[in-house]
Order: sequence, then structure tokens, then C-alpha cells
Amino acid sequence: MIAIRWLRAAALLLVLSAFCSNPPAASPQGPPQNAPPSTSQESPAAKLGPEDIAMGKQLFAANCASCHGFDGSGQLGPNLHGVTQRRGDAGVFGVVRNGTGGMPPVSSINDMRVWQVVAYVRTLGEMGPTEAAKGDPANGKRVYGANGCALCHTIEVQGGGVGPQLTAIGRSRAPKYLHDFLLDPGKNPPPDMTLPERAANKGYLLVHVVTRDGKDMTGIRVNEDTYTLVLKDVSGKFYSFDKAKLKTIENQPGKTVMPSYGHLSASDLDDLVAYLASLKGAQ
Ligand code: HEC
Ligand code: HEC
Repeated sequence: MIAIRWLRAAALLLVLSAFCSNPPAASPQGPPQNAPPSTSQESPAAKLGPEDIAMGKQLFAANCASCHGFDGSGQLGPNLHGVTQRRGDAGVFGVVRNGTGGMPPVSSINDMRVWQVVAYVRTLGEMGPTEAAKGDPANGKRVYGANGCALCHTIEVQGGGVGPQLTAIGRSRAPKYLHDFLLDPGKNPPPDMTLPERAANKGYLLVHVVTRDGKDMTGIRVNEDTYTLVLKDVSGKFYSFDKAKLKTIENQPGKTVMPSYGHLSASDLDDLVAYLASLKGAQ
């Protein structure tokens, strides 16, 4: 619980720093002072020594581990083992500076420190086999179909819109996060900011309201201003409330309409995770 709170606080800080800090001296798109060359041989990160790598490890722990895990094997964010080989050093540098998909830019550290982080991330590729989802994605697809996931989720264009899109969920989440999340979604909800469609910070917050005449309802908050509150139920129907006519409004941040799938057999759960991990969207 504490860890989750800490993560939320860290996530919030990140958002705040992204919005409040002055833009870094070098423009985020443009080449930094020591411009990242295209081949990794010439990358500034390749020239850094053990002390810089050790510094990069500390910076990684402070700025990246909350989402990617201390060993970079992934949690809310994907596994980073081998990512420098795939994207190149400059590619990883660019992700940190500019963000990507559901990852916000990290603007709290300067370019030199980002290169130190990249130097550390390079070493992750040599840490041996990376965690792969162990199940059978074909059976996982069947499990997905048999358990009503599509009532609330869209993959490509198929499905409902109560929950977030899962079209590229395998790109943004590690298998072990997906596994834990399916067992207990309420305990480990994704922080709002890591999902692009949650940019307005609306999230999937559940709100319980009681009207003055004693009726009550719980729904996902869609919109709220000084006078009105709009909730959505799981069938996608909208309800608009005049706040002056409500007796109580209770936000329930720890709750979600997403059911727990702890009743699935261990092998079905592994297969479902393998299927979700295989969803990488359009590249
Ligand atoms: C708030 C959570 C969060 C933080 C903090 C964060 N990341 Fe990410 N990162 C993500 C998510 C989510 C993705 C997947 C984005 C997508 O494709 O939707 C990602 C993607 C990446 C990728 C691309 C992975 C690939 O397979 O191509 C790299 C590289 C990366 N992050 C490095 C870093 C580094 C280095 C730091 C720290 C300086 C960092 N991230 C901090 C959440 C985070
Ligand atoms: C009644 C609607 C509903 C059903 C059924 C449902 N979900 Fe969800 N799901 C949601 C909502 C809402 C969220 C957002 C969680 C939150 O933040 O509260 C979510 C979140 C998720 C996430 C996390 C997304 C992220 O960005 O990290 C995954 C993965 C997921 N669901 C998979 C599934 C799978 C697989 C099934 C079927 C076995 C399923 N869901 C069934 C409503 C549902």
C-alpha cells in the first residue's frame, strides 16, 4: 500500500515537474550540446566509465524504477532489457527527453544525466534472459473472449469503451504487472497519467452519490464542474447530476469496476497474460 501511495506521489510529482519546470535549455526536439550520433559506437553513453554507470543506476532508481522496476525488468512500464540494442542509445535518450506513448517525458534531469542513465540501461541487455510471458497466447485469446473482457475493453476496433483500450497494452505493460492486476485490479490500478486517453486526468475514478430523496448510484466519473457531475455506468449509460440536489458525493479512488479474475485457473491466467503481452498495436 505504501509503495503504491509512493508511486502515485512520484507520478504526480512527475506530472507537476513536467508542467511547471522551465523548458530545458536545449530544446527537447533539437540536438543537445553533444548531439546524439546515430550509431551507438559514437554515442556519448558508450564513452562513459564505471562511475557514470553507477551514477546512471542511481538516477534510474530515482527516476525510472517506479515504472520499470529497479532491475529494469518492467512493472507499469515495459521491460527495458535489450532496449538500447533495439532503439539505439540516441533512441532511448529521445524517449526519456520526449516521452513516448503512455510515458511522460522526464524533464527533472539534465542531458548529461540522461546519458548516464542510458549508459546504465545499456548494461541491462547483458543481464541474461529477460522475462517473457510464459503462457499460450492463442488460448489466452479464447479466455479473453469467454470472460467478458470485450464488454468493457476495445482491441483494435472490437469491444466496449468502459475501460481503457488494450490494443497496445503489451507494449506499455510488463507481464508481471498484467498478472497481478488481473488478480486484484483494485489494489494496483494503473496511475492515470500513464494512459494517453487519461491525459485530462479523468481516469476511471468511481464516485458514489446519494440524492436528497435517498437514491444512490456508483459510476465512473466522466465530467465534473462546480454545478454538475456526470457519471457513467458499466453499460456505458450517462447520468448527469445537479450537485445542489445531492446529499453526498464520495470519491472512491481505491475501487474499480474492473472485476478480479482470481477465479481463473493458473494456466488460463498465464495464457491470458501471454495474449495481452502479445498485443503491441500498430508499430
Ligand atoms: C510514470 C511511469 C514511467 C516512468 C517514470 C518512466 N517510464 Fe519509461 N515507459 C513507461 C511506459 C508506460 C512506457 C511504454 C510507452 C508506450 O509505448 O505506451 C515506457 C517506455 C519506455 C521506453 C521504450 C521501451 C521500448 O520497448 O521501446 C524506454 C526506453 C523507457 N521507457 C525508458 C525510461 C527511462 C530511462 C526512464 C527514467 C529516466 C523512464 N522510462 C521513466 C513508463 C514510465
Ligand atoms: C466491467 C468492465 C470491465 C471488465 C468486464 C473488464 N475490465 Fe479491465 N478494466 C476496466 C476498467 C474500468 C479499467 C481501468 C482500471 C482503473 O483504473 O480503475 C480496466 C483496466 C484493465 C487493464 C489495465 C490497463 C492499463 O492501462 O494498465 C487491463 C490489462 C485489463 N483491464 C484487462 C482486462 C481483461 C483481460 C478482462 C477480462 C478477463 C477485463 N479487463 C475485464 C473495466 C473492465
